[in-house]
Amino acid sequence: MADRSVDSRQFRTALGSFATGVTIVTTRAPDGSPIGLTANSFNSLSLDPPMVMWALAKTSLSLEAFEKADYFAVNILSADQQSLADLFATRGAEKFSALNCDTGLGGIPLLRGCSALFECRTSYQYEGGDHVIFVGEVVEFAHFGRPALAFQGGTYASVVRYPTLSAGGAAVPARDVDSSFSRDFLGYLLGSAHARLMERVRGDLERYRLSEAHYHVLMFLSNEDNLTLKELTTLTQLADHQVSYQTLADLVIRDFITVSGGDYPSTRARLTPDGHRVALELAASLKAAEAYAERFLGATEAQTLKMLLRSILHAIPPVAAPSGADDA
Ligand SMILES: Cc1cc2nc3c(=O)[nH]c(=O)nc-3n(C[C@H](O)[C@H](O)[C@H](O)COP(=O)(O)O)c2cc1C
Repeated sequence: MADRSVDSRQFRTALGSFATGVTIVTTRAPDGSPIGLTANSFNSLSLDPPMVMWALAKTSLSLEAFEKADYFAVNILSADQQSLADLFATRGAEKFSALNCDTGLGGIPLLRGCSALFECRTSYQYEGGDHVIFVGEVVEFAHFGRPALAFQGGTYASVVRYPTLSAGGAAVPARDVDSSFSRDFLGYLLGSAHARLMERVRGDLERYRLSEAHYHVLMFLSNEDNLTLKELTTLTQLADHQVSYQTLADLVIRDFITVSGGDYPSTRARLTPDGHRVALELAASLKAAEAYAERFLGATEAQTLKMLLRSILHAIPPVAAPSGADDA
């Protein structure tokens, strides 16, 4: 007989390449207590009749309750329900005590804030090695349009759709420049994506005769007023722009900011009412540019992109500025 033993760690790793959603399957035990656990073995099975399936480890504390239950519910978790997934993957945890649940068929607890929900009548149970396979006929279902949580390679993930250039009428580039630098170099991609977004604000900047350094000062002040020049310099340097005393002086002359107190670099700047108005207008242009990009990316993808960019910024600290670089 051939040796069929498999390295279980390798086997798990190989299985982990298969990307899935994440669910919490719930039911009610004969004594009335709510039961649930995180499961990614869920799958669709039949359309007519509508059926779904999932598998439960025979070692699970919830096994007896599911074996005896007439109904179970599959709660498809949304992208922001990671902590719930962790809680329901913890053996023996107090899973329901802090939750407000709705009640479904047979009194089963239904979780709130999910991406979709299937209430099922248990139809079949099959032996499946160290798991029991549950097949349920879907009696009720609902989907709520929230982005779903995914699981791949042993970690939670979010679903990022591939952009389709034609989506929403996006223009196909006139000339497809096939260079590995322009296609693959992160710095180039970030830089040109930034330039592309800023193009949409540039008209406003030109109208107000403002540079990008002026623009950064106005935007940072509209976020948090009364920053010192030193603070503004630090913030804008991170975005590769130099704010000098002259930048502030220009904005004072234009009556967009007032400066007060302390000598350079502790001079503090505040927006004037005119400065507020211009900052709002610029922010609206940038928001519109972002919304335009989101139309092609999708909201989840845009959030994911921001999260990834924040991780880059977090992972790569700024190189300390050479001494004297922040002089006016
Ligand atoms: C993403 C993820 C998916 C899981 N999928 C399953 C599954 O399909 N079946 C299963 O029996 N356990 C699965 N588990 C493990 C159970 O959630 C975990 O063993 C839980 O403690 C069982 O709870 P219980 O013993 O209180 O019933 C999964 C865990 C995670 C984090």
